Amino acid sequence: MEKKRSNFSGGIGFVLAAAGSAVGLGNLWRFPYLAAQYGGGVFILVYIILAVTFGFALLTAEIAIGRKTGLSPVLAYKKLDKRFSFLGYVAIIVPVIIVPYYCVIGGWVTKYITVYATGLASEAAGDAYFDNFISNPVSPMIFFLIFMIISVIIVMLGVKNGIENLSKFLMPILLIISVGISIYALTLPGASEGVAYYLIPDFSKFSLMTVAAACGQLFYSLSIAMGIMITYGSYTKKNVNLSKSINQIEIFDTAVALLAGLMVVPAVYVFSGESGLSDSGPGLMFITLPKVFEQMPGGNIIGLFFFILVFFAAITSSISIIEAIVSSIMDKFKLSRNISCFIVIGICLLLGIPSSLGNGLWENVKILGMDFLTFFDFISNSILMPIVALFTCILVGWVIKPKAITDEVTRNGEKFARKKLFNIMIKYIAPIFLIIILITSTLSQFGIIKM
Ligand code: ALA
Repeated sequence: MEKKRSNFSGGIGFVLAAAGSAVGLGNLWRFPYLAAQYGGGVFILVYIILAVTFGFALLTAEIAIGRKTGLSPVLAYKKLDKRFSFLGYVAIIVPVIIVPYYCVIGGWVTKYITVYATGLASEAAGDAYFDNFISNPVSPMIFFLIFMIISVIIVMLGVKNGIENLSKFLMPILLIISVGISIYALTLPGASEGVAYYLIPDFSKFSLMTVAAACGQLFYSLSIAMGIMITYGSYTKKNVNLSKSINQIEIFDTAVALLAGLMVVPAVYVFSGESGLSDSGPGLMFITLPKVFEQMPGGNIIGLFFFILVFFAAITSSISIIEAIVSSIMDKFKLSRNISCFIVIGICLLLGIPSSLGNGLWENVKILGMDFLTFFDFISNSILMPIVALFTCILVGWVIKPKAITDEVTRNGEKFARKKLFNIMIKYIAPIFLIIILITSTLSQFGIIKM
């Protein structure tokens, strides 16, 4: 007998689960350092323009594909057109590659919570603390396993009891902590100059790479081209207003990214100056911020709240990445949720262990010149995700036609204010843009072009 598909309880459950998926390490770890690297305000401006056009079109397409087909990605594309079956498999490779290293970084965040909770904040501010931690073969592995097991247990509890309930509980708390820390950061003496650096666009810092970086960030942040939004769409009831929900998800995700910047950029600017910001890169959260917390009045408590916030954001995202895989295994092989979760644990161990060891014991093992974690991040974000998005645009724009999606969005007679924009984006602008991004980011990664 065919089992009934799980559902979110309604619009709010869906929006908070999807926002929970979207708001993650992307917003709190990636966005602030990218904004700092690519000229602050100019990066933000490009990001927002892309979010309301390009991001919106792909988010809409994926959620509507999920709800229309009622299937997870591995079967959904096939149901729309048999020739696109391959896309289901490519789409599901993306979360398979991302989730192990996501849990490794989630483990680092978990470690930093314990550091701040046990009063070791000044040690974390030491120069080599982070490098010593990640190069140790045992400690990061333990935290990786803790983070992964918590995520898998939540997914085992199911769509409503696990994913929806956790997101409904954590997302409002996350928003409150974000606003609280941002307000505190803004009251620091000298913060206004940092805010100006963060918000006022300096067009001399604009380049094609600003657009490529903002675009890659958008994919990551909105959880698009990872199979997640198709999966969550497939759990959404037919009476939910998709257009309104999509607006809310976009606003939530972008607001938390901007708040993350407000929490981090002015504070780092005050204590480490502009060079502290532009030189930090991915180490901003784990190396630069602990130094900033150390100098800040009340920094130990702020640091603790900050890492709890990042943990909440990361866990509501990791469960969505795992769910995309679990739901595909359940649909395709008719296996139970628990067995599918055990398969995900196997995948996480297989790819997560090298990602964790790549900073120490296996630091000399390189793929295309990259350590495992960087390679997995590169291959998923810069290659596979643009490919999935590109073929999704071709499928929707030219094969099933945008009307198939807009009809799904307006099936209960809802207004769809950006319908025209959706049609133009999905058919013409997004595919061309994706090809450019795919080429430029690949060439720049291999140093063939410098931007
Ligand atoms: N969307 C998730 C994030 O931003 C994957 O981290």
